[in-house]
Amino acid sequence: MSILKIARMGHPVLWGRATPVEFPLKPALAHLLADMRETLDDAGGAGLAAPQVFAPRRLFIYHVPPGRGDDDVGVPLTTVCNPVVTPLDETQALGWEGCLSIPGLRAAVPRYTRIRLTGQDAEGTPFVHELSGFAARVVQHETDHLDGIMYPMRLRDFSHFGFNEEIERFARPLPEIS
Ligand code: NI
Repeated sequence: MSILKIARMGHPVLWGRATPVEFPLKPALAHLLADMRETLDDAGGAGLAAPQVFAPRRLFIYHVPPGRGDDDVGVPLTTVCNPVVTPLDETQALGWEGCLSIPGLRAAVPRYTRIRLTGQDAEGTPFVHELSGFAARVVQHETDHLDGIMYPMRLRDFSHFGFNEEIERFARPLPEIS
């Protein structure tokens, strides 16, 4: 296994619509998945999408550490292929997001608070997960990467966008959105 280089915002691999994953996974894609796990573990962060490591396929991995999400259990490291995200209602909320392709920065991004995620695992087995809070946020962020969307493109208000150190230093409460 190896730690992969992560594309930074501005690289065209992050722009396009990624192509679907087919099963059984080709050995190269299974290898990529193993490398993505190692890369995310090394880089830290909640998720990593294949286009971020120069592989424009509809595939991402994510996890939510215990205590970070709405419940204390968290989400173990999960592989999601060919995701489809459906909001369960219209409610959105602002929450902080960073991105390994935009190092050093974060923003408060509006996202649906409750979603249904359908997709396939690494074996091609279909699943349906209902997610809320931070897990729902991470999944929307990673699915966006498969459509060439980076989180700054979701911002309607840039007043909560900045460098990590400054945002931590001058913390302000986030407004409610409707
Ligand atoms: Ni990202």
